[in-house]
Amino acid sequence: MTNSSDWFRIASATECPPGTSIERVVEGRVVALANVAGAWHAIDGLCPHQGGPLGTGRLCGAVLTCPWHGWQFDVTTGRHQISATVRQAVHEVEERAGEVFVRFPVPGPEACRA
Ligand code: FES
Repeated sequence: MTNSSDWFRIASATECPPGTSIERVVEGRVVALANVAGAWHAIDGLCPHQGGPLGTGRLCGAVLTCPWHGWQFDVTTGRHQISATVRQAVHEVEERAGEVFVRFPVPGPEACRA
């Protein structure tokens, strides 16, 4: 799924219509990809509560709700809606010709396998 040096294809734009989110594993990372009224956002997809699949949760505006116990995150910032100390990693996202790509802020798990 690689494209250029550090951008990775995550999905086709049609797989995640406005107002929805999806879960994908990219380069060993679980990512929650969200389409907020046509704007792409991607955060760490593992809920910090008990590892729930955030990307399969309900998106309402920019707030993504974990399907397991209801923790809520702003996909534009990664911040938990109640606790300011809980924050998901936010990944860069861009769409090119109908395909969506993500770029991670730090090296992925593969960097530890040398
Ligand atoms: S695992 Fe996400 S709220 Fe519990």
